[in-house]
Amino acid sequence: MLGKIGRMFGLGSTPSTFTTVRSAEDVDTGPLIKLDGISKVLGAGSSKTQALEGIDLEIERGEFVGVNGPSGCGKTTLLSILGLLDTPTGGSYLLNGHETTKLAAGDRAHARNREIGFIFQSFNLIGDMTVAENVDLPLSYLGLPGSERRERVAEALERFDLSDVAKRQPSQLSGGHQQRVAVARAVVGRPEILLADEPTGNLNSEQAVKVVEMLSELHAEGATICLVSHDPRWSEVTQRTLNLFDGTLVAADFV
Ligand SMILES: Nc1ncnc2c1ncn2[C@@H]1O[C@H](COP(=O)(O)OP(=O)(O)OP(=O)(O)O)[C@@H](O)[C@H]1O
Ligand SMILES: [Mg+2]
Repeated sequence: MLGKIGRMFGLGSTPSTFTTVRSAEDVDTGPLIKLDGISKVLGAGSSKTQALEGIDLEIERGEFVGVNGPSGCGKTTLLSILGLLDTPTGGSYLLNGHETTKLAAGDRAHARNREIGFIFQSFNLIGDMTVAENVDLPLSYLGLPGSERRERVAEALERFDLSDVAKRQPSQLSGGHQQRVAVARAVVGRPEILLADEPTGNLNSEQAVKVVEMLSELHAEGATICLVSHDPRWSEVTQRTLNLFDGTLVAADFV
């Protein structure tokens, strides 16, 4: 049985490809993501910061979008809002045509677990779990039978060439390897959107290229991806670049 939020986000059918898990009744032709006048104030008192202001943005299904801008301009804040990790202080955020800003915390978490995969600069793997357990973690929120979970984890480990390190702990692996585990964990639940916050920031050049190649492949299979990075090389793989400056979106030639 799907809950209200599951139906709201069109969940429940068997996905034929990596990406969308949507029911036939929820065929939506609008943009996947639509932000209108999104703002975010962080902190309080003298440390109060307008991290985002008046962000209007549409992202279509299957787009690969880069997010650039100087340190402190609001990239992580924007990604946290897109990923339903954080709520804006103003404006509207439609995901699949449904308003998310009024969702109760539990419904927001449910939508996040189903719809969004995250990849972070610092990998954010759980140190006392094995690689396989880390990859399985998102599936524990989806209520799948154990046999399907094991199948999906094995599939993800194989795809990202991690089968032989399945029983190791993250600290026994190189940074490049760890980020591959994080990518496997991000996609194992077949989310619609992948959000990557400087995923190559802690990697050497060769490892970084591998991770971005993986994202490109996932994009080619239909994933919608937002990639925050300072590395100009990735503008060759993303389809368009959003430039943030002091919490607002600016034209490409302004920065
Ligand atoms: N908890 C907080 N309280 C107050 N201000 C905060 C808080 N977190 C972030 N900020 C401020 O909000 C602004 C946006 O921060 P954010 O982390 O989104 O920037 P960023 O573009 O991701 O930066 P970086 O490139 O360094 O990762 C910055 O001015 C930052 O100092
Ligand atoms: Mg950041």
